[in-house]
Amino acid sequence: MARHKKLIAIDLFAGIGGIRLGLEKAGFNVVFSSDIDAYCKQTFDQNHKEKLILKDIKEIDSSEIPEHDLLTGGFPCQPFSMAGHRRGFDDERGHLFFEIKRILKDKQPRAFLLENVKHLEKHNGGATFDRIKNILENELGYKVFYKILNSKNFGLAQSRPRIYIVGFKNHDIKFNFPDPLTLTPPPISTILEKGDIEDWYYLSQKYYEGLIKHKERHRKKGHGFGFNILETTDISYALVVGNMGRERNLIKDVVKPWFYKGGNQKSGIPNSDGVRRLTIKECSRLQGLPENFTFPVSKTQAYKQIGNSVAIPVVEAIAKVIKKALYLEEKTKNKDEFVKDRLQEFFIPYTPSPI
Ligand SMILES: C[S@@+](CC[C@H](N)C(=O)[O-])C[C@H]1O[C@@H](n2cnc3c(N)ncnc32)[C@H](O)[C@@H]1O
Repeated sequence: MARHKKLIAIDLFAGIGGIRLGLEKAGFNVVFSSDIDAYCKQTFDQNHKEKLILKDIKEIDSSEIPEHDLLTGGFPCQPFSMAGHRRGFDDERGHLFFEIKRILKDKQPRAFLLENVKHLEKHNGGATFDRIKNILENELGYKVFYKILNSKNFGLAQSRPRIYIVGFKNHDIKFNFPDPLTLTPPPISTILEKGDIEDWYYLSQKYYEGLIKHKERHRKKGHGFGFNILETTDISYALVVGNMGRERNLIKDVVKPWFYKGGNQKSGIPNSDGVRRLTIKECSRLQGLPENFTFPVSKTQAYKQIGNSVAIPVVEAIAKVIKKALYLEEKTKNKDEFVKDRLQEFFIPYTPSPI
């Protein structure tokens, strides 16, 4: 079998380098990763061979970015709640998607892979996504494919539906998104830490009682909001940034002897039901991060970084089909060039040598 040189990729809005991990597993050589967040840099630098470039994307000139075959980026999704707000996405010149547009225009990579929240497709009645697609297709000339894929179909015990947008310069490209690898996801029991769990992860009795009251108030109003305790046979809801996401992914663990036993010593004492958050390690496994991945930052930062990151096996699966499509493209192009060369050889006009 022919040996190909490694395809080159870059990772914008790299965070802790989740996309990079998926790309590397698929055999890409990732030569550039950048992000604006100094805490992400700490985690990134501790876990990857290369260092994260700590810089606002708006300050990065295209000439600073190496040539590449594939541009990737999980661009921030928060602005979309703003984008439809009166002015609309059209006027959101400051929106970070336009930085991706700028870099694609300047560098003209053969392909790109963008990741975002599922809601992007429906935001502002679909207008935002239409605009994005229109820019990628008509202004930048890419053939665009997109699909919502869920991490639970790729071997993870987490339901994380995300939109993946892939584009190719070559409009004759042969590309299909990957098929689900697993139809039945593994239960969260498979990712739970064994042994003693730090007390920090247990909700205090006071906080726990507050959550119960809050849920009850909403239930009376007919709303389903509130905390949720998972069974060990369940899978988790999507890990997201902020407390709300964590409170939907609680589990019941052992009740240690010093936990709340009643009386008036409420604040700070772990609750009497042994309800706790998923640990950093457990959340890290839910995204498919490697076992030796570590977080040299506060727990709050670590939760944020994991919630912002990607499901690695999904990125890996997509990266593999992108790689296949690009290799096939090379093969076809080389074949055509070969035929063209042969034809030229055949039709070389006869020029008599000078006497
Ligand atoms: C959804 S997260 C992507 C996380 C990444 N895919 C990962 O695996 O960790 C978006 C990232 O964009 C970064 N970001 C936000 N504004 C930025 C800017 N102006 N320039 C560069 N990065 C920015 C955030 O710090 C955050 O890490």
